Amino acid sequence: MEKPQRLRSLPPYLFADLERRRRSLTAAGTEVLNLGIGDPDLPTPPHIVSAAASALRDSTTHRYPLGSGTPLLKRAIAEYHRRRHGIELDPDSEILVLIGSKEGIAHLPLVLVESGETVLVPDPGYPPYTSGSLLAGASVRKLPLTVGNSFCPDLEALEPSELAKAKLLFLNYPNNPTGALASRSFYEKVISWARAHRVWVAQDAAYSEVYFDREPEPFLRLPGAREVGVEFHSLSKTYQMTGWRVGWVCGNREIVERLAQLKDHCDSGVFGVLQEAARAALEGPQDCVEKMREVYRRRREVFLEGLRKLGWEVHASQATFYVWAKVPAARSSREGAEILLDRAQVLATPGVGFGLSGEGYLRFSLTNPEELLRAALERMGKLRW
Ligand code: MLT
Repeated sequence: MEKPQRLRSLPPYLFADLERRRRSLTAAGTEVLNLGIGDPDLPTPPHIVSAAASALRDSTTHRYPLGSGTPLLKRAIAEYHRRRHGIELDPDSEILVLIGSKEGIAHLPLVLVESGETVLVPDPGYPPYTSGSLLAGASVRKLPLTVGNSFCPDLEALEPSELAKAKLLFLNYPNNPTGALASRSFYEKVISWARAHRVWVAQDAAYSEVYFDREPEPFLRLPGAREVGVEFHSLSKTYQMTGWRVGWVCGNREIVERLAQLKDHCDSGVFGVLQEAARAALEGPQDCVEKMREVYRRRREVFLEGLRKLGWEVHASQATFYVWAKVPAARSSREGAEILLDRAQVLATPGVGFGLSGEGYLRFSLTNPEELLRAALERMGKLRW
């Protein structure tokens, strides 16, 4: 039987494809150094694990969690935003707990966009912006992020006919895959543009705590941001909790309410144990977050310096644990990734997997110990391009 069109419209999922490739090489006895997916190697801090362990022994967590998140966790999230960003959020109407931010991102177009309308998606960009939009029957207009525009989309480049159909804009700062940050003035322009053209804004802030010199500007702190949009947050990268699947969306009440309505029909909430772990993460000691930044700062220095010594052209990221580098000898990103994998057994993500503007680039993830990064550099140093 034929697959429905909405499923056929989806490209193979970038990281699922790479993981299949890695597994088959590993099964054949090849030691692959995996700098592909951004999946922290550091363990979840012990006080978070302990909170989960004791919540697991409390049988009240074994029942359906239902609803938009426990009041305790939503209060902890509101408090986190007050403390870190100086933002006041109403836990009841402006925060919704998600099964990881990816889940909310992929569902968002279903509640904001009619089929045939357009979603504006950064290119290169995290694949679920596009797949969620296609599943909702929307058209996707890619917005190139380039060195020339400092990896912030040029909204003025949209034609009036495109603007008329645009209903949702995805942003992602700190940016995956380029490591760029957005400025306050960029967000101010986005907010007045979104108001003028009646476009919702979804700012994916999953990497908000992974930065080096300058703290990312919180979109929601700017006047008017809450009228036009929301921010997606995740515990995955801040507290090394990718496998736990807890995140949240916050900001505009109408969007929060619509997503909550959809989720009532799709899932039964986040397991209570995980919500307690998330609360422990947000309310507990925060030195683990500074330590995490220190680890990536060091790895970034090692890797950037190593690539530069090998003659690679690299973009010095301001945040995230990714390095965005030009493939040598003007090779395409798929050729570059193939050469690295076949001849050096180093797995990197081809930039074009994030969209056509990623052509000619590779993304390296620093979620590996320093020795492994050095080993990858050594293998790469033996390649002739
Ligand atoms: C990535 O490698 O881009 C991310 O780790 C994937 C994700 O967050 O789902």
